[in-house]
Amino acid sequence: MRKTLYKHRIKKRTAANQMVKPKNTPFIYGVATSAFQIEGNLEADGRTPSIWEPFCNIKDKVFEGHTGEIACDHYNQYREDVSLIDWLGVDAYRFSISWSRIFPKKHQANPEGIKFYLDLISELEQRGIKPCVTIYHWDLPIWAQQEGGWTNRKCVDWFLEYATYLFEKIGDRVTLWFTHNEPFCSGILGHTLGLHAPGYESVKEGFLAVHHLLLSHGKAVKRFREMQMIGEIGIVLSVTPLYPDTSSQADYKSTRFADAVSHRLFLEALFKGTYPKEVMTLVNRLTRGRLKLHPHDMETISEPCDFLGINYYTRGLIKTKVGGIGYSAGKPRVPVTDMGWEVVPYALKAMIERIRSEFTQIPIYITENGAAYPDFLERDFRIHDEQRVLYLKRHLEMVHAINATGGDIRGYFLWSLFDNFEWQEGYSKRFGLFYVDYKTLKRYPKDSAYFYMDYVREQKRKNNEQMP
Ligand code: BGC
Repeated sequence: MRKTLYKHRIKKRTAANQMVKPKNTPFIYGVATSAFQIEGNLEADGRTPSIWEPFCNIKDKVFEGHTGEIACDHYNQYREDVSLIDWLGVDAYRFSISWSRIFPKKHQANPEGIKFYLDLISELEQRGIKPCVTIYHWDLPIWAQQEGGWTNRKCVDWFLEYATYLFEKIGDRVTLWFTHNEPFCSGILGHTLGLHAPGYESVKEGFLAVHHLLLSHGKAVKRFREMQMIGEIGIVLSVTPLYPDTSSQADYKSTRFADAVSHRLFLEALFKGTYPKEVMTLVNRLTRGRLKLHPHDMETISEPCDFLGINYYTRGLIKTKVGGIGYSAGKPRVPVTDMGWEVVPYALKAMIERIRSEFTQIPIYITENGAAYPDFLERDFRIHDEQRVLYLKRHLEMVHAINATGGDIRGYFLWSLFDNFEWQEGYSKRFGLFYVDYKTLKRYPKDSAYFYMDYVREQKRKNNEQMP
């Protein structure tokens, strides 16, 4: 029998109409990955392309034209990979499902596609690891993109059909469901900044994509409730607390706007049922007021969830562009990772406090946290990644400090299980606890893997001692 995460599935509604679960549940430690970044085998068992395949082929979009063709070959090596998760001794594994394996064509489900995930889940269950599923981690099927993708309202229905199918097939075996991973990235990076697939550069399309992504989230949550699924459901947002680069008025103003686009656009919609005024003013100006939202959309988007997922890596410094429109990033003030991201654990605390005071009291999971550093496989097959160990230690300590002051963080998923396809950076950035030798596809534990294993073991020991 699968161990259920919550013994008592009592749901209480707070004044803010949010679901709150009882607090007497053990903290979950996990690791995270996503389908396109690790699976490879893009044509296996009837899968059709996603938007990332053509995007990888556009010149200069992805580092040295890297593709997801082989990635970590997880599709073939999933059993060994689950044994690595087991070796770490963590409670849960967060992975995403490839939509185009499940629906390689519009309205046509593929039994071979779901079989892979059923096998993966069985493997996890046999080892007592809780499966936690991200429904959408950026890899829209190409057939959907050919009809406008997320800018087309119909995409909401296609997503709902896909999510419903997953609820039916694996719904009784999943502990946590994440409807979307970082709609900021799939919406704004993909449709306004052109940095992610499908690579558009339009404010209007970015906004439309975000709106439809959020709408599809709300509809999936509603469907989840109607189907009386066990397990819990929420969405994952990226948070990068933003600070003005200087004390100038201009930098303050730019920071406020950047925060509206990267955070409030999502948090206000999900928890208050509105979009930020500054964003709507811009969208209305650019569309000459022609973009009309449907009357009940915001109600659907703010459908109460069981929890909020937060991906945290760094903070951002915002600098006004001299003589230009928009803003850019200020120069780092503290040591950075290989992504050029500042290492600032306290900004996570500041953000959680803000979410608590301004938006919601529902439980929070840290659904991603980790760091890329240039790792080297030594002759003895060890990888001495002290910087990553320090990064993880400081952030894990911060999570517990946040909880000590009532933060109500229920779990921590480390990004990532192993090195993988880092989107526009290809394989040039390594986030893994396990080093992947891309020539042999072998995995090697880094020092950080030993660190995390010991850390989790020690926390569990302490918890057991505290049990009556
Ligand atoms: C994404 C991951 C990505 C990680 C590191 C997150 O925004 O969800 O897919 O690999 O950041 O950049």
